[in-house]
Amino acid sequence: MARNKLIIANWKMNFDMHQSSIFLHKLSTKIGIYNNIDIILSPSIFTLQSLSLQVNHNQFKLAAQNFYWRDQGAFTGEVAISQLRGIVQYALVGHSERRNIFHESDKDIRAKVAAAIRNDIRPILCIGETSDERNHGETSLVLNDQLVGGLANVSSEDIEKVVIAYEPVWAIGSGDNADPEQVQKAVKMIRTQVKHLYGEKVAKNIQVVYGGSVQPESAVDYMAVPGVDGLLVGGASLNLEKFEQIVQKIDNKVNK
Ligand code: PGA
Repeated sequence: MARNKLIIANWKMNFDMHQSSIFLHKLSTKIGIYNNIDIILSPSIFTLQSLSLQVNHNQFKLAAQNFYWRDQGAFTGEVAISQLRGIVQYALVGHSERRNIFHESDKDIRAKVAAAIRNDIRPILCIGETSDERNHGETSLVLNDQLVGGLANVSSEDIEKVVIAYEPVWAIGSGDNADPEQVQKAVKMIRTQVKHLYGEKVAKNIQVVYGGSVQPESAVDYMAVPGVDGLLVGGASLNLEKFEQIVQKIDNKVNK
């Protein structure tokens, strides 16, 4: 069975409640409902509940950008993924901004991946090398470490619930987007490592997306890369026209 395509909009720390709601409303009138493309919106956590009431769940899925891995307790200021059950279907884990700005370790990340799965929410595990690591020829090592680190608690029954996002750190928010050949190589490394960990069938079935300065002009080229099942879009997902174009182009490529 063909894997569904994923287009994930990471709004990061942008849009207040009103802006999020208006944006969602406008977007919902501009794009269709697709059987084989999941459009996943990842807004600020405080907007999630109200957007989940507004959203047509056949048209959009929702994702948390972050959460704490314990299910309840004395953790002032945190939101547990168990509190997001029924609101989100996906959750980003290990985004490079979480790793680098908020010092999330592989230990935190693997606990979050496991917590998402335990709560029936699909984790989107983000991995990627910095420009220094790439220049030192360490890309494969870094991707392997982050995969092994992030997936350490995931059983072979659960592994296909995980989405892997390849996001080279140097390409995020920089406009310095990766070449499709670089993406192809990295995705091949990822699937090879998944094969070592979980076998051939999982390596073939697991969904892998690319993220890093995706624009309407580059979206189709990335989707054409063998092994790429979708896109994680940051900056361009905050612009209605650009995001609409990305979705239309992928729909044209996949369905027409
Ligand atoms: P960008 O962000 O598209 O703005 O590079 C992608 C991401 O951080 O997920």
